Amino acid sequence: MKKGSSTPCPLRCPHLGCQLSWNPGEKSWDCPCHGSRFDYDGNLLSGPAQIPASGSSADTIDG
Ligand code: FES
Repeated sequence: MKKGSSTPCPLRCPHLGCQLSWNPGEKSWDCPCHGSRFDYDGNLLSGPAQIPASGSSADTIDG
């Protein structure tokens, strides 16, 4: 089975909501706005975001 031809649904950055871009070289989701990075599963690699980009619970960001 071939891997790498599909990626998860596009994720929103939990920082300010920019659309993340998949970085095939680093295998990470990178935010073009302020540089937050997330792994394949949306776990936070580097900020300024402070929570994971899990993609399924976006309604808990703004409190
Ligand atoms: S919106 Fe993604 S780092 Fe700010």
